[in-house]
Amino acid sequence: MPQKNELGVLILAAGLGTRMKSDLPKVLHMLGDMPLLTRVIKKIAHLNPSKIVIVVGHKAKMVKEALGGFLEKYPVKAPHFFGNRAKVRGKAEIVFVTQKLLKGSGRAVQEAAPEIKKFRHTLVLCGDAPLFRTETLIKMRAFYLKNRPDCAVLTADLAEPGGYGRIKRDPPKLGGVEAIIEAPDASPAELAIKEVNSGAYFFSTRALLAAIKRLKRKGSKKEYYLTDSVENILKAGGQVLAFKTSDETEITGINSRKDLAGAYKMLNKRVLEKLMAGGVTIADPENTYIEEGVKIGRDTVVAPGMHIRGATVIGKNCKLGPYGLVEDCKIEDGVEIKFFSVLTLSRVRKGSVIGPFAHLRPASDVGPDGKVGNFSEIKKSRIGRGSKVPHLSYVGDTEMGERVNVGAGTITCNYNGSAKHKTIIGKRAFIGSNTNLVAPVKVGAGARIAAGSTITEDVPPGTLALARARQIIKKLKKRPAPLETHKR
Ligand code: UD1
Ligand code: CA
Repeated sequence: MPQKNELGVLILAAGLGTRMKSDLPKVLHMLGDMPLLTRVIKKIAHLNPSKIVIVVGHKAKMVKEALGGFLEKYPVKAPHFFGNRAKVRGKAEIVFVTQKLLKGSGRAVQEAAPEIKKFRHTLVLCGDAPLFRTETLIKMRAFYLKNRPDCAVLTADLAEPGGYGRIKRDPPKLGGVEAIIEAPDASPAELAIKEVNSGAYFFSTRALLAAIKRLKRKGSKKEYYLTDSVENILKAGGQVLAFKTSDETEITGINSRKDLAGAYKMLNKRVLEKLMAGGVTIADPENTYIEEGVKIGRDTVVAPGMHIRGATVIGKNCKLGPYGLVEDCKIEDGVEIKFFSVLTLSRVRKGSVIGPFAHLRPASDVGPDGKVGNFSEIKKSRIGRGSKVPHLSYVGDTEMGERVNVGAGTITCNYNGSAKHKTIIGKRAFIGSNTNLVAPVKVGAGARIAAGSTITEDVPPGTLALARARQIIKKLKKRPAPLETHKR
């Protein structure tokens, strides 16, 4: 559906989310590293819609603001996020509609009608159901375009259909749907139906708009059910088809904290299984947490307790963990990240070793064949080829050449209380233990710094700098008191 004005997407996200018992709107709850609603938007961006209309209502302002921030952080970019409109990857436009009368999914579509009416087709999704696969929606779109019903609804068979709307099939017509019955209004026979509504539908916009006009308030909350549009479409002589996915996890809707935890488990399992199928060893899938956007190469081994998030890309033959966090990083082939290390927005080049207990803060770049060892923290620094920061150091705002050795306890004093300054260390320099490098400062190539120095001036290449008080030995006037004074 590449042409303009063909596909509009409507995401329903105005609900009160009562069952979450939260001050935070439901669609902003985090599922792993992303809010529910952001996940939905990211996935449909691949369908190249012309426009994404998001119906907000409950705490609308909070949803809009939070979403702006997340869209900027994640690949679905909204560079010009302002007011009610933003751009997704420079293609789809994001529009917010604020639902005034919070009376059900049908009402949400009614209030958004002016924004979708010019599109031939409308994909309706729920902001609280982010586990569908993009591929499934692409297949469903093909099914919808081939069969041309007025509505195609995504369904699945559930062993425990619980509170989902039940799909009442119309036996004579293959794949035909007669009605969607909401669980509270269902008869015992209807409740026994295993096939349920995901809340995702492709509609012919014209049929949808006609059907929602005739919705009536229903149930104990007197709401307009979008699901009743099925019957209205049939009454008008139209057709509704079901598109069933074989993976029931895809249709998971999140209404409670329990659902949220369950959804995260399903999502994580799915990600790990895909990685394992691609040749990654996950030693203990029950205790490994990897986000959907992460890529990992063959023969990499992920030990228990690892959390890998964001847009992280990991190469082949790496060893990760046990325990640790890697977020938005690029890790090249053959890297080892040992026990309890934390890495964010950093790059680790081929063959480097990080940890145990190391911290790479944003914009660190290590290696190839570099080493950052125990209790060392790196921030916004380049650690050159073969350079080592093996123990107890802080290196910030530093440009370090090749084969530098940084002694234990070295600190780059990059902050003078008001501004940050750079430290430059030339190749093959040797920094003695417990050195303070007071920035801005340059250490030339091959220079050596004596242990315990506080370096405040540049050190020329190939020289030795000593910047510490000379040791003095004095005779004691009195013999010191014995250490053990107590009598036996
Ligand atoms: C809905 C479906 C149900 C389906 C299930 C799948 C209806 C009537 N029922 O039930 O058939 O099996 O989703 O998860 O649609 N919303 C608004 N405005 C409102 C009310 C809700 O935008 O006034 C939004 C919510 O934010 C949510 C979506 O619509 O994203 C669905 O609402 P919710 O109350 O969660 O419906 P369910 O009971 O889950
Ligand atoms: Ca729901």
